[in-house]
Amino acid sequence: MTLVTSGSCPEKRLRYAYAGGIRLDSATAIYPGSFDPVTNGHLDLIERGAKIFGRLIVAVLRNAEKDPLFSLVERIEMLEEVTRQFPNVEVDSFHGLLVDYARARQARVLLRGIRAVSDYEYELQMAMMNRKLEPRIETVFMLPAEAYSYLSSRLVREIAQLGGSLNGLVPASVEQRLRAKVV
Ligand code: PNS
Repeated sequence: MTLVTSGSCPEKRLRYAYAGGIRLDSATAIYPGSFDPVTNGHLDLIERGAKIFGRLIVAVLRNAEKDPLFSLVERIEMLEEVTRQFPNVEVDSFHGLLVDYARARQARVLLRGIRAVSDYEYELQMAMMNRKLEPRIETVFMLPAEAYSYLSSRLVREIAQLGGSLNGLVPASVEQRLRAKVV
Protein backbone atom coordinates (compact mmCIF):
# COMPACT_ATOMS: atom_id res chain seq x y z
CA MET A 1 0.00 0.00 0.00
CA THR A 2 1.50 3.25 -0.88
CA LEU A 3 1.23 6.92 -1.54
CA VAL A 4 2.15 8.06 -5.01
CA THR A 5 4.71 10.87 -4.85
CA SER A 6 6.65 12.67 -7.54
CA GLY A 7 10.33 13.25 -8.09
CA SER A 8 12.26 15.22 -10.65
CA CYS A 9 15.29 15.02 -12.85
CA PRO A 10 16.80 18.59 -12.81
CA GLU A 11 18.96 18.21 -15.96
CA LYS A 12 16.11 17.05 -18.15
CA ARG A 13 13.40 19.01 -16.31
CA LEU A 14 11.27 15.90 -16.19
CA ARG A 15 9.02 14.86 -13.36
CA TYR A 16 8.30 11.25 -12.53
CA ALA A 17 5.82 9.62 -10.22
CA TYR A 18 7.17 7.19 -7.64
CA ALA A 19 5.49 4.74 -5.29
CA GLY A 20 7.60 3.09 -2.61
CA GLY A 21 10.74 4.11 -4.52
CA ILE A 22 9.50 2.54 -7.76
CA ARG A 23 9.32 4.78 -10.82
CA LEU A 24 5.84 4.11 -12.13
CA ASP A 25 6.20 4.97 -15.81
CA SER A 26 8.84 2.28 -16.26
CA ALA A 27 7.28 -0.22 -13.84
CA THR A 28 5.39 -3.37 -14.69
CA ALA A 29 2.16 -3.60 -12.70
CA ILE A 30 -0.15 -6.56 -12.24
CA TYR A 31 -3.90 -5.98 -12.08
CA PRO A 32 -5.18 -9.29 -10.67
CA GLY A 33 -8.75 -10.49 -10.33
CA SER A 34 -11.44 -12.99 -11.22
CA PHE A 35 -12.97 -10.84 -14.00
CA ASP A 36 -16.10 -13.00 -14.21
CA PRO A 37 -16.84 -11.04 -16.38
CA VAL A 38 -14.83 -7.84 -16.98
CA THR A 39 -17.03 -4.79 -16.27
CA ASN A 40 -16.80 -1.14 -17.28
CA GLY A 41 -15.41 -0.51 -13.79
CA HIS A 42 -12.49 -2.87 -14.44
CA LEU A 43 -11.98 -1.28 -17.83
CA ASP A 44 -11.92 2.19 -16.29
CA LEU A 45 -9.19 1.07 -13.91
CA ILE A 46 -7.22 -0.61 -16.72
CA GLU A 47 -7.34 2.63 -18.70
CA ARG A 48 -6.13 4.65 -15.70
CA GLY A 49 -3.42 2.07 -14.91
CA ALA A 50 -2.21 1.96 -18.53
CA LYS A 51 -1.60 5.74 -18.39
CA ILE A 52 0.51 5.52 -15.24
CA PHE A 53 2.50 2.30 -15.56
CA GLY A 54 4.96 1.34 -18.26
CA ARG A 55 3.31 -2.05 -18.63
CA LEU A 56 0.10 -3.38 -17.15
CA ILE A 57 -0.57 -7.11 -16.96
CA VAL A 58 -4.22 -7.98 -16.34
CA ALA A 59 -3.94 -11.35 -14.61
CA VAL A 60 -6.97 -13.64 -14.32
CA LEU A 61 -6.95 -16.00 -11.36
CA ARG A 62 -7.13 -19.69 -12.29
CA ASN A 63 -8.98 -20.95 -9.25
CA ALA A 64 -10.22 -24.54 -9.27
CA GLU A 65 -12.27 -23.95 -6.10
CA LYS A 66 -14.48 -21.23 -7.54
CA ASP A 67 -17.33 -22.03 -9.92
CA PRO A 68 -17.21 -19.12 -12.37
CA LEU A 69 -19.93 -18.28 -14.90
CA PHE A 70 -17.30 -17.89 -17.62
CA SER A 71 -14.43 -20.29 -18.20
CA LEU A 72 -10.87 -19.03 -17.89
CA VAL A 73 -10.52 -19.00 -21.69
CA GLU A 74 -13.73 -16.96 -22.09
CA ARG A 75 -12.66 -14.44 -19.43
CA ILE A 76 -9.29 -14.00 -21.11
CA GLU A 77 -10.91 -13.62 -24.55
CA MET A 78 -13.28 -10.93 -23.26
CA LEU A 79 -10.42 -9.04 -21.61
CA GLU A 80 -8.32 -9.24 -24.77
CA GLU A 81 -11.22 -7.92 -26.85
CA VAL A 82 -11.79 -4.88 -24.63
CA THR A 83 -8.14 -3.98 -23.95
CA ARG A 84 -6.95 -4.20 -27.56
CA GLN A 85 -6.68 -0.41 -27.81
CA PHE A 86 -4.08 -0.21 -25.03
CA PRO A 87 -0.66 -1.17 -26.45
CA ASN A 88 0.99 -1.53 -23.02
CA VAL A 89 -1.70 -3.83 -21.61
CA GLU A 90 -1.29 -7.61 -21.64
CA VAL A 91 -3.79 -10.25 -20.51
CA ASP A 92 -2.54 -13.37 -18.76
CA SER A 93 -3.65 -15.89 -16.13
CA PHE A 94 -2.06 -17.12 -12.95
CA HIS A 95 -2.54 -19.66 -10.19
CA GLY A 96 -0.99 -19.96 -6.76
CA LEU A 97 0.29 -16.98 -4.84
CA LEU A 98 -0.05 -13.61 -6.52
CA VAL A 99 3.35 -12.46 -5.23
CA ASP A 100 5.02 -15.54 -6.79
CA TYR A 101 3.40 -14.70 -10.11
CA ALA A 102 4.45 -11.03 -9.78
CA ARG A 103 8.04 -12.09 -9.07
CA ALA A 104 7.99 -14.43 -12.09
CA ARG A 105 6.78 -11.55 -14.29
CA GLN A 106 9.32 -9.16 -12.73
CA ALA A 107 6.53 -6.87 -11.57
CA ARG A 108 7.08 -4.65 -8.54
CA VAL A 109 3.54 -3.27 -8.35
CA LEU A 110 0.11 -4.78 -7.71
CA LEU A 111 -2.80 -2.61 -8.81
CA ARG A 112 -6.16 -2.86 -7.09
CA GLY A 113 -9.28 -0.72 -7.31
CA ILE A 114 -11.17 0.60 -4.31
CA ARG A 115 -14.77 1.49 -5.07
CA ALA A 116 -16.07 2.34 -1.63
CA VAL A 117 -15.13 2.15 2.06
CA SER A 118 -16.60 -1.36 2.12
CA ASP A 119 -13.78 -2.59 -0.16
CA TYR A 120 -11.12 -1.17 2.13
CA GLU A 121 -10.94 -3.81 4.85
CA TYR A 122 -10.56 -6.75 2.45
CA GLU A 123 -8.08 -4.87 0.29
CA LEU A 124 -6.05 -3.74 3.32
CA GLN A 125 -5.81 -7.31 4.58
CA MET A 126 -4.75 -8.61 1.18
CA ALA A 127 -2.20 -5.82 0.62
CA MET A 128 -0.67 -6.30 4.06
CA MET A 129 -0.45 -10.07 3.60
CA ASN A 130 1.14 -9.65 0.18
CA ARG A 131 3.64 -7.21 1.74
CA LYS A 132 4.43 -9.75 4.46
CA LEU A 133 5.02 -12.39 1.78
CA GLU A 134 7.07 -10.09 -0.46
CA PRO A 135 8.11 -6.70 0.98
CA ARG A 136 9.67 -5.55 -2.32
CA ILE A 137 6.28 -5.52 -4.06
CA GLU A 138 4.02 -2.50 -3.54
CA THR A 139 0.22 -2.48 -3.79
CA VAL A 140 -1.11 0.67 -5.43
CA PHE A 141 -4.80 1.52 -5.09
CA MET A 142 -6.71 3.53 -7.66
CA LEU A 143 -10.28 4.79 -7.66
CA PRO A 144 -12.56 4.05 -10.60
CA ALA A 145 -14.88 6.76 -11.93
CA GLU A 146 -17.71 7.52 -9.51
CA ALA A 147 -20.26 6.07 -11.96
CA TYR A 148 -18.75 2.62 -11.36
CA SER A 149 -18.51 2.81 -7.57
CA TYR A 150 -21.46 0.41 -7.12
CA LEU A 151 -20.59 -1.93 -9.99
CA SER A 152 -19.39 -5.51 -9.49
CA SER A 153 -19.12 -8.66 -11.60
CA ARG A 154 -21.42 -10.44 -9.13
CA LEU A 155 -24.22 -7.87 -9.63
CA VAL A 156 -23.69 -7.92 -13.40
CA ARG A 157 -24.12 -11.73 -13.44
CA GLU A 158 -27.25 -11.45 -11.32
CA ILE A 159 -28.81 -8.74 -13.51
CA ALA A 160 -28.05 -10.78 -16.65
CA GLN A 161 -29.56 -13.92 -15.12
CA LEU A 162 -32.71 -11.98 -14.16
CA GLY A 163 -33.04 -10.26 -17.56
CA GLY A 164 -32.26 -6.68 -16.45
CA SER A 165 -30.56 -3.96 -18.46
CA LEU A 166 -26.77 -4.04 -18.60
CA ASN A 167 -26.57 -0.71 -20.37
CA GLY A 168 -23.41 1.16 -19.31
CA LEU A 169 -22.28 -1.63 -16.99
CA VAL A 170 -20.25 -3.85 -19.32
CA PRO A 171 -18.72 -3.47 -22.81
CA ALA A 172 -21.07 -4.48 -25.68
CA SER A 173 -19.10 -7.65 -26.49
CA VAL A 174 -19.37 -8.79 -22.86
CA GLU A 175 -23.11 -8.05 -22.81
CA GLN A 176 -23.56 -10.28 -25.88
CA ARG A 177 -21.70 -13.13 -24.20
CA LEU A 178 -23.69 -12.69 -21.00
CA ARG A 179 -27.00 -12.79 -22.88
CA ALA A 180 -25.91 -15.92 -24.75
CA LYS A 181 -24.75 -17.56 -21.53
CA VAL A 182 -27.97 -17.09 -19.55
CA VAL A 183 -30.62 -18.01 -22.17
O1 PNS B 1 -11.37 -9.89 -8.27
P1 PNS B 1 -11.12 -10.62 -7.00
O2 PNS B 1 -11.82 -11.95 -7.01
O3 PNS B 1 -11.44 -9.79 -5.79
O4 PNS B 1 -9.52 -10.93 -6.95
C1 PNS B 1 -8.95 -11.56 -5.84
C2 PNS B 1 -7.49 -11.95 -6.13
C3 PNS B 1 -7.39 -12.79 -7.39
C4 PNS B 1 -6.68 -10.69 -6.31
C5 PNS B 1 -6.97 -12.73 -4.88
O5 PNS B 1 -7.88 -13.75 -4.58
C6 PNS B 1 -5.59 -13.32 -5.08
O6 PNS B 1 -4.62 -12.61 -5.18
N1 PNS B 1 -5.51 -14.67 -5.14
C7 PNS B 1 -4.27 -15.38 -5.34
C8 PNS B 1 -3.86 -16.18 -4.09
C9 PNS B 1 -3.02 -15.36 -3.16
O7 PNS B 1 -2.01 -14.81 -3.51
N2 PNS B 1 -3.47 -15.26 -1.90
C10 PNS B 1 -2.82 -14.51 -0.87
C11 PNS B 1 -3.10 -13.04 -1.05
S1 PNS B 1 -3.56 -12.33 0.42
